[in-house]
This record gives sequence, structure tokens and C-alpha cells, in this order.
Amino acid sequence: MYDWLNALPKAELHLHLEGSLEPELLFALAERNRIALPWNDVEALRAAYAFNNLQEFLDLYYRGADVLRSEQDFYDLTWAYLLKCKAQNVVHVEPFFDPQTHTDRGIPFEVVMRGIKQALVDGEKKLGISHGLILAFLRHLPQEQAFQTLEQAMPFRDAFIGVGLDSSEQGFPPRLFERVFAKARSEGLHAVAHAGEEGPPEYIWEALDLLKIVRIDHGVRASEDERLMQRIIDEQIPLTVCPLSNTKLCVFEHMGQHNILDMLERGVKVTVNSDDPAYFGGYVTENFMALHEGLGMSEEQAKRLAQNSLDARLV
Ligand code: ADE
Ligand code: ZN
Repeated sequence: MYDWLNALPKAELHLHLEGSLEPELLFALAERNRIALPWNDVEALRAAYAFNNLQEFLDLYYRGADVLRSEQDFYDLTWAYLLKCKAQNVVHVEPFFDPQTHTDRGIPFEVVMRGIKQALVDGEKKLGISHGLILAFLRHLPQEQAFQTLEQAMPFRDAFIGVGLDSSEQGFPPRLFERVFAKARSEGLHAVAHAGEEGPPEYIWEALDLLKIVRIDHGVRASEDERLMQRIIDEQIPLTVCPLSNTKLCVFEHMGQHNILDMLERGVKVTVNSDDPAYFGGYVTENFMALHEGLGMSEEQAKRLAQNSLDARLV
């Protein structure tokens, strides 16, 4: 089944480039940049990948991202991810990057953007993988800083297709970012947002009605609100679901409890994605495989999920 799932043509629509930083590359970049790490080796770092919730993961994720310093580092990170995509027949990617994670440490915006974009352009030319890059705002920081980030990004307007919203969800509702999303949309950018990962269905309503998002990242808690479910089905609003992430971060206790296939069967446009594959135990094929093993996903369901990902592309 693994080889069959691996060979299915797929798009990945929910992937944080910083979350694809494998421990081996993290150590190599630390050495290149002469950064001391608190872990003795790759195994010790991997052993730290045990999380009870989103925040515990984010604390380690931001710490890991600190080894990314130069344009070459961002290139190498993105290129390594694209090679994984090639090996798994992921033919189109719409990855996120978090500029504020880097600009807040003094890394110039253009260093981040140039390294990532060059790798994506090379991926298109050399690997045949098409892309649309999404700039994500960190929701634990004030909207004013998101505005500054958008301003820094505008000289590179053609390099990305949309804006997203990520980081700590609980206590940081979408409504806090209504104005910056309106500004981004006025520039012709698509809007997406993490909503209903840990946060309640109300956050999904806000993301749809106030941020005017065209795709919901995670959204698994939509199943708690029947009226919301009906809207998502009627309007065929895609959900970028990340099964291994959800079990690793204890959104579901185990894969057998995941609601993705129930949603699929109700007509929700759900897709399968890896979120932060270096931290959660696998890339897209591993996420499909986990659904097969944990939920009994059939080949026919896998085909529909893969087709949904191709249909839900923004570009
Ligand atoms: N940043 C990276 N991964 C994330 C996730 N799963 N939720 C929110 N923010 C994130
Ligand atoms: Zn995510």
C-alpha cells in the first residue's frame, strides 16, 4: 500500500518550511553557522519530539529555526523539502513560511525570501514541481507587526500568492487580524488561516467571515458545529488536514479517533498534508499511510483525497 500511495499524484497545501527542518540538517546548519545547541546529537534532539499540545511543539520549532541564518540556509531547507516531494510524487506545493520568526532575530526579510524563492524556482525547473508560496503571520504577535511584515514583503509581491495565519491559536482569534487581511486581499493576495486546530468552531466562522479565507488550515473542530459543517459542504471550502500533526499534538488521542474520513464521506473537501514533517514523523505519503493503518482508508478514498488536493490548489 505504501508504494501505491506514494505513486499517487498529490499536492501539498499545508506545510511550514521551517517545520521541514530535519535534525540532520539542523545540526549541519548549526555547525556551518557556529551555533551551540543544547542537544548532544541528532538522537537527543529527536528524543525531545514529544508534545502534549501545540505550544510545546512551537517552543521547540522556534528554537530549531534559529539555525537558519543565510540565504543559502533557506535555500538548503527548501530544496531538501522539494527532494522529499519528488520522491513522493507531490507535483504541486503551496508552502508557508513565517518571516517574523526570522526578522525578529535580525535576519533581513530579503535573505529569507530570496533563499526560499530560488529553491522553489529551481524545483519547478529541475524537478517539475509547481508552487505558490504563502506568507504566514504569527498570531501571538500584534497585528501592527503583521502590517510591518506585509510592507516588507511588498517589493517581492510577485514571489508569493497569499497570506496565512499560524502559531498559538487559543486566545488569538482571527478577528485580531481583520485589517491586515483586508489589506493583503486588496493587493490581490489569497487568504488562508489556521483555524479549528485547537481553537473552537467560532474561530473558523471568524476566519471565513472576517478574514474571508478561501481555504481552512486544519479545521478539524468544525465537526462540533453542524451549521458550520453544512456551510463548508455547501460552499465546498477546502480543509488542509494534517493527521500525524493532530495525533502528535494530541488534538486526537490516536489515529482511530480522527474525523477526516467521516468528513470526506459527508462531502467535505478534505485534503491530506504533513504540516511539520520533520517533527511529526513523516511527509505526505506517511500521512496517507497512517490513515490506511489507523482508520482503514481504502484506495478509493485515497484517490478522492489526492484529487481534492489537486482541486484545492490556489494556483
Ligand atoms: N506553525 C507550525 N506548525 C503549526 C501548526 N500546526 N499550528 C499552528 N502554527 C504552526
Ligand atoms: Zn500548520
